[in-house]
Amino acid sequence: MGTTKSFPKDFLWGGAIAACQSEGGFGKNGRGIAVSDISFFDKNIDRQDLAKHRNITTEIIETAMKDPGTKRYPKRHGIDFYHRYQEDIALCAEMGFKVFRFSMAWSRIFPTGEELTPNEEGLAFYDAVLTEIEKHGMEPLVTISHFEMPLALVNKYNGWADRRVIEMFVRFANTLFDRYKNRVKYWISFNEINAGRFTTFKSTGVVKDKSEHYLRDCYQAVHHQFVAAAMITRDLHAMMPEAKMGCMIAFFTTYPATCNPDDVIQMMLDNQYDNFFYTDVMIRGKYPKYMNRFFVDEGISLVMEEGDLELLANYPADYLAFSYYMSSISSAKADELVQTDANLKSTGKNPYLESSDWGWQIDPKGLRYTLNTVYDRYQVPLFIVENGIGAEDQVTADGQVNDDYRIAYLQKHIEQMREAVVDGVDLIGYTMWSSIDIISSGTSEMSKRYGFIYVDQDDEGNGTLNRLKKKSFYWYQKVIESNGEDLGI
Ligand code: BG6
Repeated sequence: MGTTKSFPKDFLWGGAIAACQSEGGFGKNGRGIAVSDISFFDKNIDRQDLAKHRNITTEIIETAMKDPGTKRYPKRHGIDFYHRYQEDIALCAEMGFKVFRFSMAWSRIFPTGEELTPNEEGLAFYDAVLTEIEKHGMEPLVTISHFEMPLALVNKYNGWADRRVIEMFVRFANTLFDRYKNRVKYWISFNEINAGRFTTFKSTGVVKDKSEHYLRDCYQAVHHQFVAAAMITRDLHAMMPEAKMGCMIAFFTTYPATCNPDDVIQMMLDNQYDNFFYTDVMIRGKYPKYMNRFFVDEGISLVMEEGDLELLANYPADYLAFSYYMSSISSAKADELVQTDANLKSTGKNPYLESSDWGWQIDPKGLRYTLNTVYDRYQVPLFIVENGIGAEDQVTADGQVNDDYRIAYLQKHIEQMREAVVDGVDLIGYTMWSSIDIISSGTSEMSKRYGFIYVDQDDEGNGTLNRLKKKSFYWYQKVIESNGEDLGI
């Protein structure tokens, strides 16, 4: 039996962004207010301890709604992709992108979520974006929900905690399928659906002080998202049998803090609760038994309607997408660990790994481990739809951004990706986060930059918004050109 020594010929190389972090166009052409418009920038925030930033309260929402400005709420202006998408997509094409991942804003198409007819101007915007992507011969990868549900649904229903939101979301998704039929093959239902457990507000719109039993509401909201994802997978396939619906999680790769069996058991539990619960439901099509025990222990009884479990069983996702930034550690005595920040939550420090300036622990080999573990469990095509490093880039006097640290991070991760492909993992694509600098999801900073393309804008929204190619831009161009063979190592 032969082995593959490199990436498949049709491997989808590219990059990703999200509407709420890039578009701007706040209030433009009928767009409604979204949860992301509440996300605030605080320059005194402790970068390695973002817990406070993650707890959105009714008071924070009310204060934000009274403030029409964008200074404190940078996701309202993004990087003005709304007006500069042609230039941005052309730059991605210049790097040789085969695929461009972006999301379509629910609040741009159904401003309060409750309308029965869509906002034509919102749909027209994505027509134009798709035309640009097609012009450059790229494949679009569309995330239907990426942390920006209409805020009106939060205020009226406490977000996804209320089952009625399913119907509105399904209407939104079907509107997209109908409009962009035959133009989009790859879809993702919910960005990082497991974020509902960690950054609940931005993912599900559930506000803690509106809930009598917050944890139950988190899981109830996620259950509603599971059902909605199954419904839209059914509808997508009925309309476009060739199209593919992916599920997506933020993969929290975790290791036991020691070889003490208690730590290993904790790792098993963390894996089940934080990762596999979501993909077991969305790929295997059923609630895993280990969650029964968790729900009983936590006093959670989920409300399900007749037919829910059948839907989950009948319409699983076609492929498994995930983001991978760092790894964590699991310990039976987690409180005793030195903490560091990570994507969506914090974790214990791993003495064998270095960290980014935001404390995210850099672990390329963890990516190979993850790809193998996930593929072994599910045997479906995998797609890495986010991977990258947030860093404070500097522009030199002669206008260069020498982001060697980003190149080093990506080199090592792509190298491990290749190892996994050689191991036999069916990996179909890689969209680096983020093609171009955008507003940080977690901190709403501009100075936490991920892109191959620098955007001249500071944390307060000052700057020319000019785009500048970083050193990594030219490096990635070669990676794609050589189908991952030339990593410049
Ligand atoms: C993922 C999100 O959680 O991580 C992205 O899907 C986000 O939206 C990315 O930007 C990086 O996180 P952050 O907080 O550094 O922007």
